[in-house]
Order: sequence, then structure tokens, then C-alpha cells
Amino acid sequence: MCGIVGYIGDEQAAPILLDGLSKLEYRGYDSAGLAVYDGEKIEIEKMPGRLRGLIDITHDGEKMPGTVGIGHTRWATHGDPTVENAHPQYNKDKTIAVVHNGIIENFQKIREFLEEKGYQFRSETDTECIAHLLDYYYEGDPLEAIVKTMYRLEGSYALCILFAKHPDQVFAVRKDSPMVIGRGKEGEGNFVASDVPAILKYTRQVYYIDNEEIAVLSRDSIQFFNLDMEPIQKELHTIDWDMNAAEKGGYEFFMMKEISEQPKVIRRTIEPHIKDNEVVFDELKMTDEELAKLERIHIAACGSAYHVGMIAKYVIEGMARVPVEVDLASEFRYRNPIYSENEIVLLISQSGETADTLAALKQAKEHGILTVAVVNAVGSSMTREADRTIYTVAGPEISVATTKAYSAQLVIMYLLAMKLARVKGTISTKEYLGYQHDLLQLPQQAEMVLNNQTRIQKFANRYIAAKDVFFIGRGIDYAIAVEGALKLKEISYIHAEAYAAGELKHGTISLIEKGTLVNAVVTQEDLYEKTISNIVEVRSRGAFVMAITNADHADMENTADYVIYIPKTNPYFTGSLAILPLQLFAYYVSAGKGFDVDHPRNLAKSVTVE
Ligand code: AGP
Repeated sequence: MCGIVGYIGDEQAAPILLDGLSKLEYRGYDSAGLAVYDGEKIEIEKMPGRLRGLIDITHDGEKMPGTVGIGHTRWATHGDPTVENAHPQYNKDKTIAVVHNGIIENFQKIREFLEEKGYQFRSETDTECIAHLLDYYYEGDPLEAIVKTMYRLEGSYALCILFAKHPDQVFAVRKDSPMVIGRGKEGEGNFVASDVPAILKYTRQVYYIDNEEIAVLSRDSIQFFNLDMEPIQKELHTIDWDMNAAEKGGYEFFMMKEISEQPKVIRRTIEPHIKDNEVVFDELKMTDEELAKLERIHIAACGSAYHVGMIAKYVIEGMARVPVEVDLASEFRYRNPIYSENEIVLLISQSGETADTLAALKQAKEHGILTVAVVNAVGSSMTREADRTIYTVAGPEISVATTKAYSAQLVIMYLLAMKLARVKGTISTKEYLGYQHDLLQLPQQAEMVLNNQTRIQKFANRYIAAKDVFFIGRGIDYAIAVEGALKLKEISYIHAEAYAAGELKHGTISLIEKGTLVNAVVTQEDLYEKTISNIVEVRSRGAFVMAITNADHADMENTADYVIYIPKTNPYFTGSLAILPLQLFAYYVSAGKGFDVDHPRNLAKSVTVE
């Protein structure tokens, strides 16, 4: 989604801003722009399309001299991706420039108010009203103008602002949209960014600015203020992850790199949670007695993280007999969920910034329910809002289509299920140790699947021109089918739908015609026969069936047209292996079509608007 970079120092700002924006490209955007103070006035360049265009027209930033500036990549919400709608937005005489992530919900009202005061609008954006509102309130003190503006704004925002009359300062504020402030080494200036990778090349020292706080950056100082304009102290954090982790390392696309990292990520996620043959979750800060009292878990998440929740329901209910309710975060908040004592709300998110999941978290907190965030991005909003955070240690995930974070989230769900089953006594010690053993085999088994990808690649090449693909499965296999379908549709733009295999005959089977591809996931031993009969049903209507299975079942070869085998593991954990061929299938279809696999159209890596 949108990206922000700001810089003030002794170096030329534009090249630093362009470089920072390039590190945020993966988040998705459709226009880009810069504002640089050139010693006399604010110069603005912006254009629709890729950042490359902006780099070219500014000659790598050389055509925009100046040591103070702000930059933005915009993912259109209000108005098309045009020059007028791109950021920075500015006031009537270009003395105030603003870049904005988020959505101003009451912008229409503010616009009407400002139009009555004689302000003329040139864009369709909600952001332009911020530039004019700052202008309206500005009477010599930028901080005061910002605070008064913040009081008028409803919705979410991270803003970076330049005032031509205060050229030795950059201002940053946020509410419900992420933002970090980077402290450069002495003499190297200071930075603002909506996401750490944008400034990691320049500094590892960051402040996390909280909701409704204001940062004022100069060349050699950073000050923070609250809404009462009182100075506040902030803690300086050191980013300890490596930017190399976010480089492609020889792969054509990040997605393939991230798919390949999964065995390592699964291992890394399991390791800190098993000590002396016991599953541990120190970060929950709950005793075994407290955990044993848990009576229900609510899970709220979006997209692939929601699909992890679907599997968690099967695994946690199956192993620990704790009821689990899984909701799309965007629905959860509006359905007025019923909470009781001894319940927790689990929020699952790679980015930790997804607006709907964050809103679900806040709503649960308002009801006094313990919130636990399972998050990948260190220091993200959810980690700061939730009562407890469990980190997935997948490392930075760049490709919009999630793969390794999804796998890490699954592992956390298995471990949670085992922990709960252990403290509640719903499984024997032998079963518990058996689960641990099987879990520890997963990285190696995942490696085996990934080392054997030629068959799936060949198969994907045959289906590059497919119009519709169906995915079917039962139980956990159904949840995997849903994730497999999402992977395919998001990066290959092929219509893909997942169905619970038993449900097909209640309507969807009418869509099957000669040659329709159906990908069947068949890993649950007790459901083999049932799913096989569903495969027979679709094949007899002309479908071509690829089965992903761990069955050494002669029937499978005789039933499906094409079989991909995965190793056997505990039925609860099969999702971690069955998803791999489906990720590869989606990848190879997309790459085969010549698409930009990492940046699918219309999508953003972290969805910070509702
Ligand atoms: C997955 O491939 C998608 N890009 C998307 O569904 C994603 O999982 C969803 O937007 C949730 O994001 P989060 O994990 O960062 O909250």
C-alpha cells in the first residue's frame, strides 16, 4: 500500500527519497512523487505509474536539488492514479506539501468547509484537504497548525509535511497507520518512513511514533510532542534484521525465494518453542493453570492469515478440544461477537498493520478480552496494541503473495494446539511426544517437496491459459484448497475457486465442463474415500484432476489424471506440505504468463485501509 519517506540532512534529499521509495515498491502503488525544498521554495514532481518514471524525469533526483524532502508512493483510494491525485498534495501557493498514508473518513465535510472558505481543490484525494487545512490553521507555528488539523481529521493517517517557511524542519504524525522515525549517525541527518526497509540503508536506530504523536525532525535533532504540544520522550530501538534478508539472492522473484525459504522458516519457528520436550510460549505470560482454563479462542484475520485460522480451528479443536471461532477481521468487528470469561482473541497477521485486523484487535480490547497477536513484522502496530505478541520469525516477506509467513503462522497454530492439549490433558504424553517428533520432521519433508518441483512446473505450464480452476478438499484439505485458490487468483489473474469437496454437488458441479482443471487436496486418511468419490464425480463430467496427496493408495493413480505426492506426516500437519505444490503451481503459472509475480495488479502487501 502507500509508502512514505522523508529526509533532512546535508546530503541531496531526492536520491535518498527515491532510493527509499524503491524499497517500498513491493507494498504496491500506482503513482509516485517527491517534494524537495530547493533553498527558496518547495519543488514538486509526481507522476502516475512506476517509480522508474519519476527517477527518469528527475534524472535520478539530480533535477531536484535540496537537502530536505518528502516522497510518496500512492495506492489509489480516492480518485484514479493521475498526476493531480498523486502525492505530495499542497496548499494554494505550494508553501505546504503533504504526503499521506491512510484514509480521511470525513474528508467530504472538510472539503465543503474549506470550499466555503474559498479554497479550490485540484484533486479528488482526501489528502488535499489536509494540505488546505494546514494552510487554514497556519499562523506562524507549524506545530499548532498540525495539532489543530489533527483535531479535525477522522480516519487513519501517517503524514509527512514540509513547510516552506520552516525549511529546516520535517514534520511527521500518525494515527492508525504505521510510521517510524530514523535517527541518522551524527551529521548524517534524520529520516521518516512508513516502513523500516526504506531507511535501513542509512540507519538502524529508529523511534516508533505512536498514535496522535508528532515528530519534528531537524538536521541534528528529533523532538516528539503530544496533542497538547508537550514534549514527550521516546525510546530508541535498534533494528537487528539484515537488509540482505530482503534482497532477491539470485532468484528471479521474491516469491520463489520466499517459497524456498520455508523449510528454514518452519525450523526457526519451531525451535524457540520446544524446550526439554515441552512446548513453551513464554510470550503469552500465562501459567499452565491459566492456559488450562481457556474455554474458547476467537481468531480474526484477513486473506491467507484467515486461512491459517481455518486450519487452526481443526487442529486446536481436534487436539485440545477448545472451541475456536474463526472470522474474517472485516466481518468480526461488525458482528458484535459474544465474549465470555476465559477467552482470548487471536489476531494473525504478517504485516501487523492490516487495518481490519487492527480494528478487530482494538474492538476486542475495548471488551476487556485478552488479545494475542501472531505477527511477523517486528514493531508493527499490532505488536504495540496487543496484550501479547507471538512473533513468527519468517524474516521480511516482500512478495505480495504470502508464502513463508503463512507457513510460519501454521506452525505457531500447531504449537499452540499442542500446548493447550498438554495443559488440558486431552492427549497422552505418548501422543504429545509423537506430535513433537512429527513437527520436527516438517522442515526436512518440506525440503523434499521443494526439491521435487519439476512435475508441478511442467503441469503449471500446461495450464497457463486456463480460464477457471477449481480447488477441492475436505477438512484441513479444504482450508488448504482455499489458500491454493487465493494464491493462483492473486498472481495469475485466473478465476479460481475452492469448495469443500462434498459441497460441489449442491451447485458448483454444474460449472464443470470438458477440460476444466480441478486441483484436489487429499491428505486426510479418514477422508480419502470420500474425496476420491468427489474426484470421480467431477471427472465423469469432463474435469481434468490433479491430486496432491500423501496416499500410497492405488485408487489415487487410477482416479486422478495427474498426481503430486507429498510425504506422510501427522494429519494435523499435512497442510504445511500440501500447500507447497499449490504455491509452486501459482508461481509457475504467473511467471509463465510473464507477469510481475511479486507485484500483482491492484494488490498491496499490507492493506492499511479498511
Ligand atoms: C496473501 O497472499 C495476500 N496477499 C493477503 O491475503 C494477506 O494475507 C492479507 O492481506 C492479510 O495480510 P496480513 O497477514 O499482513 O494481515
